[in-house]
Amino acid sequence: MPPAAPDFDEIIDRRGTNCSKWDSMEPVYGVSPDEGIAMWVADMDFRPPACVQRAVEGMAAHGIYGYAASDDAQREAIGWWMDRRHGWRPDAGDIFTTHGLVNATGLCVDAWTEPGDGVVLFTPVYHAFARVIRAAGREVVECPLAMDHGRYVPDFDAWDAMMTGREKMMILCSPQNPGGRVWSRAELEGWAAFARRHDLILVSDEIHCDLTMPGVTHTAMTRIEGVADRLVMLTATTKTFNIAGAHIGNVIISDPALKARFSARMRALGLSPNSFGLAMATVAMSPEGVDWLEALRGYLDGNRRLFEEGVGKIPGVSPMTLESTYLEWVDFLGTGMSREEVLRRIEGDAKIAVNHGTSFGRGGESFQRFNIATPRARVKEAVSRLQAAFSDLQ
Ligand SMILES: Cc1ncc(COP(=O)(O)O)c(C=O)c1O
Repeated sequence: MPPAAPDFDEIIDRRGTNCSKWDSMEPVYGVSPDEGIAMWVADMDFRPPACVQRAVEGMAAHGIYGYAASDDAQREAIGWWMDRRHGWRPDAGDIFTTHGLVNATGLCVDAWTEPGDGVVLFTPVYHAFARVIRAAGREVVECPLAMDHGRYVPDFDAWDAMMTGREKMMILCSPQNPGGRVWSRAELEGWAAFARRHDLILVSDEIHCDLTMPGVTHTAMTRIEGVADRLVMLTATTKTFNIAGAHIGNVIISDPALKARFSARMRALGLSPNSFGLAMATVAMSPEGVDWLEALRGYLDGNRRLFEEGVGKIPGVSPMTLESTYLEWVDFLGTGMSREEVLRRIEGDAKIAVNHGTSFGRGGESFQRFNIATPRARVKEAVSRLQAAFSDLQ
């Protein structure tokens, strides 16, 4: 019997499960999970595909939690998935398994830069990049994205002028978090050329590549010509299938010298995969996972329309049109209000916990980020609370 269709409308109470999104919202934002809505941390309030659940139940039933033998099956599954979903197949020998992609970012910084070197980010961008770079004693070089008709676009001329020669690496978020852009092939070629011009290792974080809106196509950086000798690609199943707590991710490198260096760092740090993460990721990359993902993308698109239409009606408030991810990036600049006043209304009046735009670096100051990967009834409720909180602008 085929698995039952996923029910993304089901409200699953996550409170009291040591879950960051709901159990930390009060200490972090002062918003009680009993009356508030958690729209911050990037995980979803949905169960993963049934095959993932069965894999965990199988391990629990066996009851032995020893070391995993290898990650071969996962690497085979990644080949199948990338070929089927993204039109390229990595060699199994090019794939490393890390404890997630923040961990992988730290490993990359460690492998290819020295203290004091510059690492280029295109901001606003996922906040953990800067955190990891600074914690490693490297310098964050913030290159602000330009805006064209409400969409982020690269600004290579401006960025060329900012380079000093101390930069050794760039990290591209593709698709982009926040902002939800799916970069075009021409834009990706531009980034590849930028990396070559400034002799940078190009780290391409593609964790959101599967979460495109229906009809939108992501282009993997591995499909761009002339960049393989400096390319380090990061991918994961954790956003796609909502298994972030499994802390598993992959680094894909085809250049032999880069691969040898990364492998040496992995060995020096004694890293080996978590067996739960391996089991969950491996089964998810399957025909059953594909069906689940297609249902999810349709559902998220429905949430996106509801949110963008409803929030877009508030005068002075502009959500960016989401092309991928489930993270709505909303500009409050047009309200003319201070950041403090905007947040007082979102957190205090509407009781919604959101990621503050300032944490994403230059260009994020007037924005807030809302996670819409939650049952539609909650998105609806959030939209009406926001409309009420800003009703004096109507
Ligand atoms: C671009 C990007 N990279 C990495 C991560 C986190 O990766 P992990 O949970 O594998 O450390 C996130 C989470 O939101 C993200 O948006």
